[in-house]
Amino acid sequence: MTLHLKNFIAQGTLLLPPQIRIMQTRYARESANTMTELVLPNDTNTLVNLMGGRLMHWMDIAAAISAMRHCNKPVVTASVDNVSFHHPIKLGNILTIESKVTRSFNSSMEVYLKVLGEDLQTQIKYLSNEAYFTFVALNTDGSPSKVPELIPETDEEKEKHKGALRRRQLRLILGGKMKVDDAAELKALFIKD
Ligand SMILES: CC(C)(COP(=O)(O)OP(=O)(O)OC[C@H]1O[C@@H](n2cnc3c(N)ncnc32)[C@H](O)[C@@H]1OP(=O)(O)O)[C@@H](O)C(=O)NCCC(=O)NCCS
Repeated sequence: MTLHLKNFIAQGTLLLPPQIRIMQTRYARESANTMTELVLPNDTNTLVNLMGGRLMHWMDIAAAISAMRHCNKPVVTASVDNVSFHHPIKLGNILTIESKVTRSFNSSMEVYLKVLGEDLQTQIKYLSNEAYFTFVALNTDGSPSKVPELIPETDEEKEKHKGALRRRQLRLILGGKMKVDDAAELKALFIKD
């Protein structure tokens, strides 16, 4: 049996975007993702707080969804940097991971994540941690694939977009993929004319 797209559309059973687009550019907001989890006993460490490894697993998924929303291709995690745990998340608390692409390069995308803990009984919300993940989009043969350019709109998006150049240079130096001499934006932070 052949299934035609127009039949699904006619039956109203398929939700499509206004058009299926091969995009050259994308707005940062189009990659926004929010993921909510309840911390259950199996997610905790011996101190009965959320285990760091379990949080990283959820963060990786949330960030990958943002990256895939931006490029509409499969992605792999290339690096994780600047993960700092400010507050433990307790058993029975809710956590919300907000993620968004900050900047895209050729085949890679930087994603910013913010993790908020929430105690529903006291109604207190707290910042648990923040991080930047980098993903690379792949072609079907596994080679890196070109991604759309990202357009920041808000002041916060513009600031993160600007800073992404320096963060990329730092992580590529640490990953042995860039020479310090080639990191112009990073050097400009420390060496003034
Ligand atoms: C990430 C990966 C695709 C890069 O491939 P590669 O052959 O090194 O490709 P290149 O050197 O051409 O780099 C491709 C892109 O990756 C980026 N990249 C490579 N290493 C990186 C690192 N350590 N941190 C951030 N970005 C990195 C490059 O900057 C480049 O980005 P650009 O195209 O936007 O300029 C490859 O190393 C890989 O598959 N790693 C394993 C990924 C994985 O298994 N992740 C965990 C499970 S999802």
